[in-house]
Amino acid sequence: MDPVEYETLRHMWFPVARVADIENGVASGSILGEELVVYGDERSVTVAEGFCPHRGVALRLGQLREGALECPYHGWLFEAGNGRCTRIPSLPPGRGRPHAALRTYAAEISYGLVWSCLEDPFLPLPRLPEYVDEAWQLGAGEPYTLNCGMRQLTENFRDKAHFPFVHAETMGDVDQVVESYRIVRDGWRLGWSSSLGAEGIPEEFSHHLDYRITLPVFASICVSSPSGGRRLVAQVTTPVSADGLRVRQFWLAGTDAVSTAQGAELADVLAYERQVFEEDHPIVENQRPVEAPLDLYSQVHTPADKFSITYRRVYTELLESYKARQ
Ligand code: FES
Ligand SMILES: [Fe+2]
Repeated sequence: MDPVEYETLRHMWFPVARVADIENGVASGSILGEELVVYGDERSVTVAEGFCPHRGVALRLGQLREGALECPYHGWLFEAGNGRCTRIPSLPPGRGRPHAALRTYAAEISYGLVWSCLEDPFLPLPRLPEYVDEAWQLGAGEPYTLNCGMRQLTENFRDKAHFPFVHAETMGDVDQVVESYRIVRDGWRLGWSSSLGAEGIPEEFSHHLDYRITLPVFASICVSSPSGGRRLVAQVTTPVSADGLRVRQFWLAGTDAVSTAQGAELADVLAYERQVFEEDHPIVENQRPVEAPLDLYSQVHTPADKFSITYRRVYTELLESYKARQ
């Protein structure tokens, strides 16, 4: 990975675990090759370096004891929040405790995910579109680990021309032609809308799609059905390896109050979206180069690729803007 991109991403928020995965108090995560431990509960979490400063045991094997993290090897105890070691069981009474602390990182809980940022955040924690309010039901699906570039996966999520080829089973017979669309930019957010029709179906019976992305990688699609209900799928991809070519794909699904009242089950939406993602995986893990090139002249484009081109341009601008801050 380009050093400027690596540095920039160290200043970005990424999910490291689902809140559901810290049910027993401890989970693991990784950003850009930094292995992390997550400990706490659904109200308050700490994200810290993943290995014990004593003998380097993986702290994800530890357990939560009165809100603190206990190393599984010799029982050293690390406080919530600041990671300070507050107990070394092998010390005889009266002996001073050597100074030890885990390096901790920024940690936030949002949309059922634990987010962290390795350095001072350059951008705020990204949000879903404003219309996703408390009346929505949201769920975080089981994340996937994939061998592909973070931006490649983000572009796939936004790519409509692949629907009839990759998603024939889940989406049926959708239009192959991608009508031209207009992208609206607001700071580091991009958005556009389109409809998902099928041949011979009048416009008023087609679904409308609202695409949003907050750079670098928080993307969502809200689908409004002709009956008035809305459902949402969102994806946010964490680069887990330092070269960014191994990622963890976190994702959310949601239903609004209208679709819930109409009988839509969040579990069904999650199951459907899981199937859609699994159809994409053999594609995104078999692209070369593994990461989407920022050089716009190295691949051939069509008007349907307008999003990818804009995304690559704005992403390059984001790297430049981070660099200019230095
Ligand atoms: S390795 Fe963690 S307490 Fe010894
Ligand atoms: Fe897809």
